[in-house]
Amino acid sequence: MSGRIIAPSMLSCDFGRIAEEAQAVVEAGADWIHLDVMDGCFVPNISFGAPIVEAVRRSVSVPLDVHLMIEQPERYLEDFIDAGADYLTVHVEATRHLHRCLSHIREYGDSRNVKAGVSLNPHTPTHAFTDVLDDIDLVLFMSVNPGFGGQKFIPQVLEKIKEFRVLIDNRPNGRPLVMVDGGIKPHNIGQVADAGADAFVAGSVVFGSDDYRATIEALRNS
Ligand code: DX5
Ligand code: ZN
Repeated sequence: MSGRIIAPSMLSCDFGRIAEEAQAVVEAGADWIHLDVMDGCFVPNISFGAPIVEAVRRSVSVPLDVHLMIEQPERYLEDFIDAGADYLTVHVEATRHLHRCLSHIREYGDSRNVKAGVSLNPHTPTHAFTDVLDDIDLVLFMSVNPGFGGQKFIPQVLEKIKEFRVLIDNRPNGRPLVMVDGGIKPHNIGQVADAGADAFVAGSVVFGSDDYRATIEALRNS
């Protein structure tokens, strides 16, 4: 694994042109596309569902990283896999049956090698999912309280990421990717990378800029 994976979040794009916006960030150098699904229940905001994921799937070929901020995500896993998710991430706080959820993602998505992720809110300790580490391909650390783009980075997550890297490094069967989501900007991405993150979600900073390529390059190299 080398280099940073940069995943623009479509939450901050112009939804009326979401397919073109996805193409534009991919042309500008995005590695993945991050799609924030919100149900107005797990988080105080509603965004979009599987049909929008499918529309983005038709417009780009890079991996689609689908972040489910929904209660009981087990109800919709197959819909999002069918829509074209490559990484499907559930919140540990949103399901009573985390192991079942993760297993179902891998089993149902097996023919396309769909990866299973877990996400945790800023206050949730990593031991909430360490018993299912072998079932996880990606860990998404929230560095804001989920629900909205454009919030301020919560620095306490840095220590949590560092401790998690100590826990997972040198595991005999490899380790999950470490991704961070919320408030990522060129001025703070370096310290998040130093803490041990491999992949970075960035929404408002990318779509709020008038030069997507320059912003993605700044995120990659800062
Ligand atoms: C927050 C979402 C994030 C958000 C990131 O609930 O999960 O992906 O869109 O946006 P910025 O980069 O603006 O914090
Ligand atoms: Zn997200």
